[in-house]
Amino acid sequence: MLSAESLKQIDIELAKFPADQRRSAIMGALRIAQTEKGWLAPETIAFVADYIGITAAQAYEVATFYNMYNLQPVGKYKLTVCTNLPCALRGSVDTAQYLQEKLGIGFGETTPDGKFTLMEGECMGACGDAPVMLVNNHKMCSFMTDEAIDQKLAELC
Ligand code: FES
Repeated sequence: MLSAESLKQIDIELAKFPADQRRSAIMGALRIAQTEKGWLAPETIAFVADYIGITAAQAYEVATFYNMYNLQPVGKYKLTVCTNLPCALRGSVDTAQYLQEKLGIGFGETTPDGKFTLMEGECMGACGDAPVMLVNNHKMCSFMTDEAIDQKLAELC
């Protein structure tokens, strides 16, 4: 279900915790599985849960709580726009609107070519850089004006 390399990485996560606290490695294990698979299908979550030694329901509790876990397939680039208050006060509603128009999709949707998925996100702790957008859960993009969006999309295309 997962590659030997991913299992090796999960073993490293498991080694960070006492033997009777294996469930503490679930966040890292799900992240590793998602990196390999692109998203967390129910059978992937169940496999990871079994590998860790917890129930699938316990793994779901984590996977459904944090919005960085993809519970359905996403495009090559998942763009998450923060719409919490500080970002909204600095124009994130316009940022989201501009992205929706440029990509022709709404929140939670993927472009027909499978390139972009647009998501609405919670505060990313970078309010001073508002409005902010996260690419694939890792790359933070600051001060997302229309021009900055054009530039970022051109980079990704
Ligand atoms: S409100 Fe957007 S990063 Fe904090």
